[in-house]
Amino acid sequence: MIKMIELPYPMNALEPYYSKETLELHYKILYKGYVDNTNKTHEQLENSRKNNDFTNIKCLEKNLSFFGSGVILHELFFTNMGPAIPTSPSVELMEQINKDFINYETFKKQFTQAAVNVEASGWCILVWEPRFNKLEILQCEKHQNLTLWGCIPLFVLDMWEHSYYLQYQTKRPDYINAFWNIVNWNEINKRFKNINKN
Ligand SMILES: [Fe+2]
Repeated sequence: MIKMIELPYPMNALEPYYSKETLELHYKILYKGYVDNTNKTHEQLENSRKNNDFTNIKCLEKNLSFFGSGVILHELFFTNMGPAIPTSPSVELMEQINKDFINYETFKKQFTQAAVNVEASGWCILVWEPRFNKLEILQCEKHQNLTLWGCIPLFVLDMWEHSYYLQYQTKRPDYINAFWNIVNWNEINKRFKNINKN
């Protein structure tokens, strides 16, 4: 059984960029739902195997992908945010950003534009793709569509309405601009350091 992660900061720590009300809703209701449903799906799959009955397998595999990816992406998201104390990419990560995106400003622009243009509910994600040996920016629809298999997510932005509507309504760009103030590069640097680059 998987357990919810603890947030590494208080509920009001991201104010004013990300309100306490939004974070509470996001963590206590939405994220909890993904954890609970992943556990439920694991239990249902276990029962299917025990009973040798795979009648609902299509639905269960879909739920596993949806809820499971929801858990993983939310945990990356909550921890790649932090109080608005400026952090920056490490020397190593900045070198890679400069190599793959010309410079930090162009990376930020591409990430912001990709996030603004996520269709309906989804995510904007900076990943490491080992096959291409480079950083890529991906949009992800729902939690599991449009992924690039084998990639390692480094930095994610939740573009589902529940992540910003309470505070920013339809002003997606305002949410994204505010988000840049609470990016925790220390955590992203750690994730980048842990990958095995060729
Ligand atoms: Fe979310």
